[in-house]
Amino acid sequence: MSRFIIEGGNRLHGELRIPGAKNAVLPILAATILNRGTSIIKNCPNLEDVKTMQEILSSLGLEVQRDKQSIIVNGKNLTANEIPESLAGKMRSSIVLMGAVLGRIGEIFISYPGGCSIGPRPIDMHLSSLRKMGAEIDDLYKGILHCKVKRFQGTEILLDYPSVGATENIMLAACLAEGETIIRNAAKEPEIVDLQNFLQALGVEIYGAGTGVIHITGCREIEKDVTYSVIPDRIVAGTYMACVAATGGELVLTGADYEPVSSIAYLLRNCGVSIERLDSKNMRIKSDQNLKAIEVIRTSPYPGFPTDMQPQFVAVLSKASGTSVVIETVFENRYGYVEQLMRMGADITVRERVAVIKGVKRLTGAFVDASDLRGGAALTIAALSAEGTSIINNVMHIDRGYEALEKSLGMIGAKIRRE
Ligand code: EPZ
Repeated sequence: MSRFIIEGGNRLHGELRIPGAKNAVLPILAATILNRGTSIIKNCPNLEDVKTMQEILSSLGLEVQRDKQSIIVNGKNLTANEIPESLAGKMRSSIVLMGAVLGRIGEIFISYPGGCSIGPRPIDMHLSSLRKMGAEIDDLYKGILHCKVKRFQGTEILLDYPSVGATENIMLAACLAEGETIIRNAAKEPEIVDLQNFLQALGVEIYGAGTGVIHITGCREIEKDVTYSVIPDRIVAGTYMACVAATGGELVLTGADYEPVSSIAYLLRNCGVSIERLDSKNMRIKSDQNLKAIEVIRTSPYPGFPTDMQPQFVAVLSKASGTSVVIETVFENRYGYVEQLMRMGADITVRERVAVIKGVKRLTGAFVDASDLRGGAALTIAALSAEGTSIINNVMHIDRGYEALEKSLGMIGAKIRRE
């Protein structure tokens, strides 16, 4: 189990390029199952979850190869319909394979998905939506779902919560369905729009992503050779912004769309961080490390402040002057990392979905354990701004969403190494 050794206290300076988005490339790779042609997906980040998705596609009989930042999928031969539990159980996004595989061949055996331990992560909206489109789904035996459908029937679906994964699953199921599907109260995340853009490149009649109402008209078959480049990762961009906010310094981010990180930029400016848009794809972040607390921050679905930035923000606010209140409205249990921050001297009280952060003058290096992806990023941020040495265990959680984080941070002046 590798770990990070971090010497805190260095200000960060330099320039970092933002990689492709994990939460866009995963559903897009699942969508390549719908295409009997060759899909070339560019700007793919080098992450554990992406490797897992590649293995899943190969296990279904598809030809998959990686060439630097591109993943090429030849969708001609889909010869299996079982997703090995050892793979599906590794990440949440395996659940969207249901819509794609059922759409293409009408049967799938899949275990309940894995992913970060930030709450029960139910899949009721996924299952009820696919059933509404005609799928028969039963719990074959503990944790393995057996699903069958002759051909999905287009229908109207109202989600009682704008679930990102459920929206993606329905989009994929609708592509080869009979008739039109309308998704109401759909998630509006940029990754949903990216998936729609990829499906349109495949020739699918789909529109409305980003507006909350998505229309998809199904077709019989998709066979198209297509090349598509994935959007930049707004959460990686936001994490780097949080790093320099916490340590002080100056950082230029390149290849990052501003709009998807605008809520993060807004709150960082309220803390006293300077964020300057250099042009549509580049921005400069400057911080003198004397940050102000923020009275109340609530996470909410896009375009609100993203839950995936909540842990990183709590780490930044740990040393801000004053008291901040964070309300986590998306996941039931996303403060697992707080206990570890308190080992570094943070003063945080958590009651269910609310965290009260009393800013402290200093954090001190400590021996801490990462237990999920963004919580691990939060511990890294705190360690960078702490006095002394920190050791962060279980960095495989961090590797699921950040490409060699120690290398990127090392390039801008952080004293960090992997053991
Ligand atoms: C996606 O997870 C992201 N993961 C998450 O990012 C992100 O935090 C989340 O969307 C919200 O933006 C990927 O895209 C791979 P949801 P997902 O369905 O699809 C409840 C990261 O750090 N719910 O929008 O699982 C659910 O429990 C990860 O990169 C149901 O109750 O999120 C949660 O409370 C973490 N029933 C809420 O909805 C369902 O059937 C939002 O979940 C589905 C979801």
